[in-house]
Amino acid sequence: MKRILPKAWIKDRKREYYYKKAKAEQYRSRATYKLSQAIEIYNFIKRGDVVVDLGAAPGGWIQATRKVVGKTGYVLGVDLKPIEPFPWEYVRTIVADMTDPETLGQILTFLPRNPDAVISDASPNISGVWEVDHARQIDLAGKALQLALKLLRPGGNFFAKVFEGDLLNDFIMTVKSRFEAVEVIKPKASRAKSSEMYVLAMKMKPGNIIDEKTKSVGKSPELDLVDDVE
Ligand SMILES: C[S@@+](CC[C@H](N)C(=O)[O-])C[C@H]1O[C@@H](n2cnc3c(N)ncnc32)[C@H](O)[C@@H]1O
Repeated sequence: MKRILPKAWIKDRKREYYYKKAKAEQYRSRATYKLSQAIEIYNFIKRGDVVVDLGAAPGGWIQATRKVVGKTGYVLGVDLKPIEPFPWEYVRTIVADMTDPETLGQILTFLPRNPDAVISDASPNISGVWEVDHARQIDLAGKALQLALKLLRPGGNFFAKVFEGDLLNDFIMTVKSRFEAVEVIKPKASRAKSSEMYVLAMKMKPGNIIDEKTKSVGKSPELDLVDDVE
């Protein structure tokens, strides 16, 4: 007799598989695999890169990123919560709110140069009300985008968590206007039934960036930075 498995059970199995794997491989989160699977396929972070990781606690993405960039690279993790320190000199973390306008300045003081990639797995506290959670998630992704547009070197990459829903399309359109190539992807490690997805944007077009050394804003004549994408 064919057994029909309850959906919640299948969902939990996947969750448990990556939970156990992360534990065995000493990663701080299951989410680590979502990022490493995406990097493996799309190659948007490379050896020697400088990377800003927004919403980085407890630090699984930082671990995956630092493996790729190696000691010639640099990773800065940013979160509302403190992240237990890592032993590598080229990995730093700060406690900061990515929605606070002062955070941009704080990030800049910790960077050796404009980053090659800005990644964001930041999520709000889930309320359980789908529309509310979707709107909050897109809002956070928008804040990550604003930071990325100001920080990235021209040609840099952006990768951010979003939730499926009505506001996603507009967000993607905004991202598309700033990057050469944009894809919405769902890594294997992300549960198929969850509305979580990731927007991957490759090669930022020239625009507003802040020169890390001079702290001045370089502005290309053909592109103006939209401050709000909501
Ligand atoms: C899913 S967790 C990130 C997991 C992480 N990628 C990892 O692999 O360990 C989402 C994080 O977003 C952070 N977050 C939410 N809102 C934030 C904000 N406004 N500024 C900074 N971090 C934020 C939360 O504190 C939480 O730690």
